[in-house]
Order: sequence, then C-alpha cells, then structure tokens
Amino acid sequence: MTAFDPAEFRRVLGHYPTGVTVVTAASDDGPVGLAIGSFGSVSLDPPLVMFCPGKSSNSWPVIEASGSFCVNVLAEDQAAVSSLFAGRDADKFAGIAWGIRSTGAPVIEGCLAWIDCTIETIHEGGDHWIVVGRVDDLGVGRPDDDPLIFFKGGYGAVRPQQD
Ligand SMILES: Cc1cc2nc3c(=O)[nH]c(=O)nc-3n(C[C@H](O)[C@H](O)[C@H](O)COP(=O)(O)O)c2cc1C
Repeated sequence: MTAFDPAEFRRVLGHYPTGVTVVTAASDDGPVGLAIGSFGSVSLDPPLVMFCPGKSSNSWPVIEASGSFCVNVLAEDQAAVSSLFAGRDADKFAGIAWGIRSTGAPVIEGCLAWIDCTIETIHEGGDHWIVVGRVDDLGVGRPDDDPLIFFKGGYGAVRPQQD
C-alpha cells in the first residue's frame, strides 16, 4: 500500500522541471502528435532516445503503427503549441505550419530542435509505455533561442548562464 495519493504524486513530481516536446507521426489519415514531457536521451552508440506515452493516448497507436516518430523540442514562445498538442482535437495540425524531414513524421515549424527516430523497442511501464527510438536524423532549428519548460504545473523558461 502507498502512503500517498495520485495528487501528491503529481505535486511532488511536478517539482522536477522538464522540457516540452511534441512527438509526431504520419499516417494515411493525416499527421498525429501529442505533448510529451517524459522525453530523454538513452544511448550514444547506438543513438537511442525514449519517451513515455500513456496507455489511453489516442495518438500513440497511430505512432506505433507508423513505426517512426519525430520529437519536436518546443521553444519558449511555443506554449500554445504545447497546449494544442496536450488536447484531444481531431486535427491538431490544422492551424500550425509543419514540414517533413527523413522519417516522414511532421517537424513543427519554429521548434528549437527535432529528432527523427525509428521505433526500436516498447516496454511496459504501469499505465504508460516506455518507447525507445533509434535516431535516424536530427537538427537544431533555432540555435540562439531558449526552451519551453514545464514546472509545478505551469510553463516557464530557462536561459544558460553566461560565461
Ligand atoms: C507539458 C506536458 C507534458 C506531457 N507529457 C506527457 C507524457 O510524457 N506522456 C503522456 O502520455 N502524456 C503527456 N502529456 C499529456 C498529453 O499530451 C495529453 O494526454 C494529450 O491529450 C494526449 O493526446 P492524444 O490522446 O492525441 O495522444 C503532457 C502534457 C503536457 C502539457
């Protein structure tokens, strides 16, 4: 038995700041994507990254079926993009500009960086999946700008210290 409830779990874990990404994929019915904070790098050789989609995600089954995904790292001025992709709209791409790099998954215009991946392994992690992707291609879109941060349930920003 645990000595805390889900709200306390969320409150305490909310003290760990994360960047905000949108994980996207292409499908015959159009592009899909969801906001993801649980993104991280795993391995350099081979180059692997990971993220954790919830088992109730609508976008994840489409991403899984496509076999590949793109991690879009959001910039400080893209909080509205995060909120859009944290919602459940049928067509989240209707009002935004995007293009395609190597895997065919959408790269959102204005993102800080993008990482195109092929799904390598999928592990069970409670009510989420732990998805490991092999990096096929990657790039920085805005080298001089800062990332969007999610902390204590709200958006913020962080800047590197100047030397
Ligand atoms: C900052 C932020 C981070 C999030 N991180 C995750 C995450 O790591 N995993 C997840 O399953 N959902 C995460 N979400 C919630 C999903 O984006 C949300 O449930 C979305 O509606 C899922 O869309 P879908 O049903 O199209 O997959 C996050 C939301 C926000 C705003």
